[in-house]
Amino acid sequence: MTTEQNYDALFAGVIGQEYQLLKLLSPLSAQMSHLVGCTVATHAAIAEQPLQVVELGGGTGITTLAILSQHDNLTVLSIDNEPVMQNQAKQHLHAWFAQQKVTFCGDDALTALRAIPTASVDVVASAYTLHNFSDDYRALVITESLRILKAGGHFINGDRYALDEVSRHTRLIQEEVSGYFKVLIGLQKLDVLEHWIVHLFSDESANHIMRETSALAQLKAAGFVDIKLSHRQQVNALVTAVKPALDML
Ligand SMILES: C[S@@+](CC[C@H](N)C(=O)[O-])C[C@H]1O[C@@H](n2cnc3c(N)ncnc32)[C@H](O)[C@@H]1O
Repeated sequence: MTTEQNYDALFAGVIGQEYQLLKLLSPLSAQMSHLVGCTVATHAAIAEQPLQVVELGGGTGITTLAILSQHDNLTVLSIDNEPVMQNQAKQHLHAWFAQQKVTFCGDDALTALRAIPTASVDVVASAYTLHNFSDDYRALVITESLRILKAGGHFINGDRYALDEVSRHTRLIQEEVSGYFKVLIGLQKLDVLEHWIVHLFSDESANHIMRETSALAQLKAAGFVDIKLSHRQQVNALVTAVKPALDML
């Protein structure tokens, strides 16, 4: 699949414009961004030089802000190929941009990663982006993430990691859909409801769904070590992995 084919503009329309509703639809996702920020901060706290963080799918800046605000010893390159989303991040984060703590790239993740030198960044961080990718595109993104990390560098992703147990996963998704109806009908946002349901069909489709065991195996196959899934809450979880030290490569 080419990078162009992967771009399906899911965040260009109503979802992108009404993205702040996500906090009501999925309070857990805001917590996950916070957790990604905390995890990056633990590495920033012990780094001798400011950490160079590459963020995949910065969106409206929720996760970027969580990263920037939890430790000062870092800079972020925030990548997102959807202007409707990234323009909101540019507004929300203008003070950080003015201090050169954050820069933005409007390319798709794979194109952007391919332009970054090998072994040049400390952390690749992301929230709720990789699950949107098709499996083959995600594999390429993970391989490129490993390439750009320095030895000992960290991959940190808070995301939708589907449960291995399919029936339990389906029940959680059904509860999620019921929640969308309750919140969005209450707010009379039927257009947003329609778009989130359509979006969910893409997330849950066989060539997109990031099921726990195969997602961790994908990281291992790329060459990551110390791969951990933690903080599972329903279909959300934090996954961390490390690029091996040079003598292990
Ligand atoms: C669900 S949002 C998450 C945004 C933010 N991290 C958060 O937690 O709110 C996913 C973002 O990934 C972006 N995205 C999707 N596919 C992408 C790709 N191939 N390259 C770069 N960004 C992509 C979308 O435009 C969207 O802004």
